[in-house]
Amino acid sequence: MGNVFVLDHPLIQHKLTYIRKKDTGTKEFRELVDEVAGLMAFEITRDLPVEEKTIETPVTTAVTKTLSGKKIGLVPILRAGLGMVDGVLRLIPAAKVGHVGLYRDPETLQPVEYYIKLPSDIEERELIVIDPMLATGGSANDAIASLKKRGATNIKLMCLIAAPEGVDLIKKEHPDVDIYLGALDEKLNEKGYIVPGLGDAGDRLFGTK
Ligand code: URA
Repeated sequence: MGNVFVLDHPLIQHKLTYIRKKDTGTKEFRELVDEVAGLMAFEITRDLPVEEKTIETPVTTAVTKTLSGKKIGLVPILRAGLGMVDGVLRLIPAAKVGHVGLYRDPETLQPVEYYIKLPSDIEERELIVIDPMLATGGSANDAIASLKKRGATNIKLMCLIAAPEGVDLIKKEHPDVDIYLGALDEKLNEKGYIVPGLGDAGDRLFGTK
């Protein structure tokens, strides 16, 4: 069963407070999201395998550890997911980055994938799907299904803020996927916004309205 981890580190919670504030401007919002993404990546990668290496320090020979070559792939869901990519890449610079763009057809309510471009070896990678606002969970659910259809077997989901509805959907549809959150909020409102949330993450990141 996939686990849900709320990363309630004081630094993450502090920065999330300023991310949420309505008078935080685009520049500061973007910088804070980037910083929180890095802090979250630190926790998300806690279980990466390491191997021992024998090295020479200036003082002696030492047996130390390095990452054992597990390949990582980041998959931001367009467009708000883009805001968290650089923060993660700063810690894991060798990660490859795929992109998924989805919308829901208003008539059929079926997900329409308008863009997808992934590393060619996703079946060998640990994939971190990035969806800053897990609201109904529809996009993340569809994106994860799409990655699995293409061979991915090892997927984590990373979100700044989630609503219980979104978490429940991912747990039900993808019980193998661990979910990492900066915060688990109260609910969705009638317009589909997370409450208390932060508003529209894409608009706030890119200064659109
Ligand atoms: N997407 C957002 O950007 N904000 C929400 O509150 C819900 C979905």
